Amino acid sequence: MGEFAELTFRGRTIRLPVVEGTEGDTGLDISVLRKELGAITLDPGYANTGSCRSAITYIDGEQGILRYRGYDIAELAEHTSFLEVALLLLRGELPTRDELDAFTASVKEYMVVHEDLRHFFNAFPKDAHPMAVAGAVIGSLSTFYPESMDPKNIDESKESCRRLLAKLPTIIAWSYKHSLGRPMTYPHHSLGYVENFLHMLFSTPFREYVVDPVVARALELIFVLHADHEQNCSASTVRVVGSSQANMFASISAGVWALWGPLHGGANQALIEMLEHVRNAGLTPQQFVDQVKTRTASIRLMGFGHRVYKNYDPRAKVLKKAAFEVLDKLGVHSELLDIAVKLEEAALKDEYFIQRKLYPNVDFYSGIILQAIGIPLTMFTAIFAIGRMPGWLAQFNEMHRDPDTRIARPRQVYVGQARRDFVPIAQRG
Ligand code: CMC
Repeated sequence: MGEFAELTFRGRTIRLPVVEGTEGDTGLDISVLRKELGAITLDPGYANTGSCRSAITYIDGEQGILRYRGYDIAELAEHTSFLEVALLLLRGELPTRDELDAFTASVKEYMVVHEDLRHFFNAFPKDAHPMAVAGAVIGSLSTFYPESMDPKNIDESKESCRRLLAKLPTIIAWSYKHSLGRPMTYPHHSLGYVENFLHMLFSTPFREYVVDPVVARALELIFVLHADHEQNCSASTVRVVGSSQANMFASISAGVWALWGPLHGGANQALIEMLEHVRNAGLTPQQFVDQVKTRTASIRLMGFGHRVYKNYDPRAKVLKKAAFEVLDKLGVHSELLDIAVKLEEAALKDEYFIQRKLYPNVDFYSGIILQAIGIPLTMFTAIFAIGRMPGWLAQFNEMHRDPDTRIARPRQVYVGQARRDFVPIAQRG
């Protein structure tokens, strides 16, 4: 037996094997705990619980490090395209030029959705949130592709991965078109993945949207930076649902809905709403920070804080620089960016934020870029979903190839009523 930890409980001592990660992460394997000691662990929000071994993404929250398959996020952000990163996450290695070209071509082919699916959009209310539509339509893909739904079958999984990666931009763009009452725009073979999304979002039959390379690159950067983030809420949701052997479409649609919440992917939309509130209420950044600290209105500084990062989120670092560059190139001045920078300054020197190690996260500057490149506010979280798709897919596949995978089924400590006698309805009152 290698290294172990000893745990003594009610006079019995057991040995818990130590599991070491490649970068020094340490886990205690407690899988025998209940059998040996008759007790379970209690860990709200799973803040101390490792749910799996994973070789996809590494985060050192203390140092502010994020790597996909060993590659630093800042380097990937500078040098790679989104589909290149998608292949890296899915296969474990960066693709060659030929591999990337072949993958890009096949993903483009799949961007068209089944024509019958187009009619689904008409059934949603015009003001339906794109995340609600995306979750529903992704789930419905399982009705179209029953032949590629066995999560244990590698070829079927590859097929479903390509479909999900390719079709989500179309689904999201069409949900936007539906909200405007405008005709759906089809993907075009001559355009790349990101350009196609922008084309479907903004082109109409009477006016072709000409994609500005600055806008396309900014969006691609956002996709790359969001592509995976290990066992976050939505990725864990995908794994939990998939652990029942539910198909990939069902599992990913659950992930989309988990992402929607304002504490997770919904924070980018909530951030802009917060900055607009600060501006419209005429608050100084310090006044707003003071309001957050008093907690009377239970408001949080959106785009700040993270379960894992206790340092500057490396994605926020890249995005802060990119926000200034993109706005400069587009000749846009953003009052909200000025407010965000001042809020950041005020928070970072405030004892409340220092003590709790709260720093800007990925959402603090992404929203400002999205706004500057013309993405409607209600689409922000959906943009996050497009970016996160490769991560969800890689996590789903890794789980299904892991021999340790069991159905996810946590325990609880029951704190309700002890056993009591049933009272017939006539005697209650
Ligand atoms: N503003 C004010 N106080 C905060 C904030 C914030 N943004 N974040 C955490 N705190 C406080 C919190 O009140 C608590 O204080 P105390 O110990 O006195 O009770 C302490 O910091 C620890 O917070 P927590 O809620 O226990 O931390 P958590 O790990 O459970 O939550 C979080 C992480 C991201 C949900 C939280 O920091 C938050 O709500 N942030 C704002 C929403 C946001 O920006 N979400 C995007 C996350 S990054 C993208 C993604 O992964 O989706």
